[in-house]
Amino acid sequence: MPFSDELKNATFPEGFAWGAATAAYQVEGGWNVDGKGPSIWDTFTHQKGKIFQDQTGDRACNSYELWEEDLKCIKQLGLSHYRLSFSWSRLLPEGTACNINKKGVAYYDRIINDLLTNKVTPMVTLNHFDLPQALEDKGGWKNEQIVDIFDEYAKFCFQTFGDRVKLWLTLNEPHVSANLGYEEGIFPPGLKEPGMSVYQVGHNMIKSHAKAWHSYNTIFRQEQKGLVSLALNSDWAEPFDPSSQDDINATDRYMAFMLGWFANPIFVDGDYPAIMKSQIKARSEKQGFVSSRLPEFTKEEQNMIKGSADFFALNYYTSRKVKYSKSPLKMQSFKTDKEAEGIIDPSWPVPGVAWLAVVPWGLRKLLEYIKKTCNDPKIYITENGFSLMGPASLEDNQRCQFYRETLQEILIAIHQDGVDVRGYFAWSLLDNFEWACGYSVRFGLFQVDFENPEFPRTMYKSGKEYATIISCNGFVNKKAT
Ligand code: GAL
Repeated sequence: MPFSDELKNATFPEGFAWGAATAAYQVEGGWNVDGKGPSIWDTFTHQKGKIFQDQTGDRACNSYELWEEDLKCIKQLGLSHYRLSFSWSRLLPEGTACNINKKGVAYYDRIINDLLTNKVTPMVTLNHFDLPQALEDKGGWKNEQIVDIFDEYAKFCFQTFGDRVKLWLTLNEPHVSANLGYEEGIFPPGLKEPGMSVYQVGHNMIKSHAKAWHSYNTIFRQEQKGLVSLALNSDWAEPFDPSSQDDINATDRYMAFMLGWFANPIFVDGDYPAIMKSQIKARSEKQGFVSSRLPEFTKEEQNMIKGSADFFALNYYTSRKVKYSKSPLKMQSFKTDKEAEGIIDPSWPVPGVAWLAVVPWGLRKLLEYIKKTCNDPKIYITENGFSLMGPASLEDNQRCQFYRETLQEILIAIHQDGVDVRGYFAWSLLDNFEWACGYSVRFGLFQVDFENPEFPRTMYKSGKEYATIISCNGFVNKKAT
């Protein structure tokens, strides 16, 4: 997409949030110190054969001890916002407020206070994949009791930190944790239970989010005046053959199963997308199930879920061309229910991991789609980034170009398409533990030397590039002209 002449001088709106993001398990380390309880990621990574070279987040970037170094990175970039996540089991080692770990509270108090002292606004994710193991032992996200347990945790956090934290995300990417954790088995709890628990887990996640939002709304909002949402990931998808009705329908299903699964209930009408419901119901019936494998919300639940977000938080990484793929009936799974196959166009560069084709213009299209289908919400892009296979060179020119092109697409979305984009968080502040890929994949604006016991952070060229864009609030240095 060309960056037109009229937009050459355009800037981001005043007060635009310039951020970078991390997640507790990926950066903190200190997995068993100062009273922290284990999370499902601790358990999972300690098993052999789950993660690239059996790497773990036991030490990660050691941000538990090196927070001050991270703060220096944040200041060097000139960020106005920083997105971090709380480790639930660092705060509540058993997952419930029966046991509160004071040292965990002190750690996050310090981070929040340091950010505010430095005029950086925190955005906090309550749970970024790392469910306390003690809760997994009681059935985790599959057990409906999680809805009340999550609400208790959320209220504890609002109560403890909400005087200072004004931007909250309940969950990160429920689509990813449900799909990879319960169907593909490559994230904890590592289950491969195709076609069933993935939907049950998604269902409980939606209700957990909505209940916590209502708690904020009724108990804390008036006093604390913050905003609460959840981070949803989505690809942008286009039909492989635009003249094929099958591919067009498959593309609609692809978007419905990825974004609509969570966005439709919360931002539209309290229920799953119609095409998702009808597709799973029809396939379930033919497979001999007495009811759909996709659970139903009661009317009361629908009313609770609808509208339970104060802004849209989007994680965008890549795009797909979608082909219709007829699935054999005997195969019950999330993947086959979709009957849609996402393909990477050969013209799209794939510099890092295989799934991550780089398609900056897909973000503009996705933003417009969210504007149209989700009632024109305020949008924060809470993750977006570019992976390199590690260790990566400090001269990461491709990543520089990626950030430039992506931010230009966002400017176009704001100025030409009228999308209400309020902020952008680069993934990630630091190279970190990239889940199943361990440390083999690097997303940071700062390089971390994991071989050196001091874990030194060094700014990549892309960090400098991002800092320059931030200081200009766009691409033109108005101060110099
Ligand atoms: C997201 C996730 C992040 C990060 C990123 C890059 O799915 O929220 O934690 O790992 O992907 O793969």
